[in-house]
Amino acid sequence: MATKSLGVVFSLMTTFCLLLGLGQAKETGKTRHYRFDIKLQNVTRLCHTKSMVTVNGQFPGPRIVAREGDRLLIKVVNHVQNNISIHWHGIRQLQSGWADGPAYITQCPIQTGQSYVYNFTVVGQRGTLFWHAHISWLRATVYGPIIILPKNNVAYPFTKPYKEVPIIFGEWFNADTEAIINQALQTGGGPNVSDAYTINGLPGPLYNCSSKDTFKLRVKPGKTYLLRLINAALNDELFFSIANHSLTVVEADAVYVKPFETQTLLITPGQTTNVVLKTKPFFPNAAFMMSARPYATGLGTFDNSTVAGILDYELPSESKSTIHNLPLFKPSLPALNDTTFATRFTARLRSLGSEQYPANVPQRVDKRFFFTVGLGTSPCDQNQTCQGPNGTKFSASINNVSFVQPTTSLLQAHFLGRSNGVYSPYFPTNPIHWFNYTGTPPNNTMVSNGTKVLVLPFNTSVELVMQDTSILGAESHPLHLHGFNFFIVGQGFGNFDPKNDPKNFNLVDPVERNTVGVPSGGWVAVRFLADNPGVWFMHCHLEVHTSWGLKMAWLVLDGKLPNQKLLLPPADLPKC
Ligand code: C2O
Repeated sequence: MATKSLGVVFSLMTTFCLLLGLGQAKETGKTRHYRFDIKLQNVTRLCHTKSMVTVNGQFPGPRIVAREGDRLLIKVVNHVQNNISIHWHGIRQLQSGWADGPAYITQCPIQTGQSYVYNFTVVGQRGTLFWHAHISWLRATVYGPIIILPKNNVAYPFTKPYKEVPIIFGEWFNADTEAIINQALQTGGGPNVSDAYTINGLPGPLYNCSSKDTFKLRVKPGKTYLLRLINAALNDELFFSIANHSLTVVEADAVYVKPFETQTLLITPGQTTNVVLKTKPFFPNAAFMMSARPYATGLGTFDNSTVAGILDYELPSESKSTIHNLPLFKPSLPALNDTTFATRFTARLRSLGSEQYPANVPQRVDKRFFFTVGLGTSPCDQNQTCQGPNGTKFSASINNVSFVQPTTSLLQAHFLGRSNGVYSPYFPTNPIHWFNYTGTPPNNTMVSNGTKVLVLPFNTSVELVMQDTSILGAESHPLHLHGFNFFIVGQGFGNFDPKNDPKNFNLVDPVERNTVGVPSGGWVAVRFLADNPGVWFMHCHLEVHTSWGLKMAWLVLDGKLPNQKLLLPPADLPKC
């Protein structure tokens, strides 16, 4: 009797809470504290030892693990000579724009001896993301995984994996990356390329003096493993494959997708992809190489090398012997410039779009924008010789505006109402002149320079077409948007046709992510709802292109309601 009435009380309470809409909102997450000490550490790879900037002396850096709904407080203390800031790549930062991290966009960098506490809550997201330094090229060594587990008692929409393994790709440079980019910006030429790619910081056996630095994944037969793939490389999109094993893609950029099987996948810098690996039912008497190498479309030089790790199986417990010299199978990867593979692979990515995880694609559009993205040139200073095209300097732009980094943060300038002399609110919504974007390049390849933002009223529904240009040769550009996910509603080759192409847009289950490859010699259309006030950076995640100016910022204004406004800056926000 007593139990029965308790049950009634509980169900009444549940109904009551549901009626009040308190079901999810009431269930608050934990607060998790992390401390990041930015310090120098000697690290040796390929027989080269270098002193490099790290978090807590670790390379790659520490993992952040949280649950959906948790608040993160990450204290970053700068013990090095460089200015630093950290970006939580892919985190929505609802109402917490001060914690986003890009230097001179949402904050001044943390100077030597100073600290800053990044304070944000993970809302409505679960999956794999990553964090990285967001100033100059420091992210070459300052990066690590972010793992967001579903809320307690919420299952994955796929078989619960036996184990989860982060696999973070990076680039190793024997030389100091700050020196490399500084020199390149001075001469106007292309920067030196990396010496190796890495899996969890390890280049693997295909490089000289490196076989002891190989990532090994030891598995049990007949189990499923969730591999959390992250591309933290500076400048290269990567193909990845494991010999004799297929992978089931289940999530992209911390959003569930309709599962599909593939031998090989493509992952651009800034993208994350969760895949399920089902191991062979019995000990296979072999080991398997996993490897990654670039998908490269540009004309420039790139590191044409291959990183490898080893997948091997635990011996069955009844066997007493150890087996040596097992055959090692190697995967075959697509050709370096296999755009056909890239197109087919990306076309397979669809939002899961289930009842629990719907694809909330904006169906109405308030504003349409058209951005050209690509490389161009800047004039060489007098009495200098430059190493870019025809004696100019390499440059890059969006709608021919090459972004000039301000000396204070855009978000601070906006918040204090002191934008004068910091930024202009008139970022061009379309190219100023029409030209055949993907045809014969125009005679004048010079970009213009400026610090411009595109202002959006709160809750503007945006459709943005990003068009690659062939001004200095067509090239794929992984464009990353801070503060939002966008839905990738269409893509194609050649020039975007505003009359016919929208007819083929997918407004039902397009993939939702924070980084999209603008196809080489093509265009991509995305939609997002600007429901988060703040200044949100958007840029090519090939770091060299960002350095050359392929970046801009959206300024999303406050809404009317209290929960639609940017909050006050934290007291410890760094000063410039
Ligand atoms: Cu992962 Cu603004 O970048």
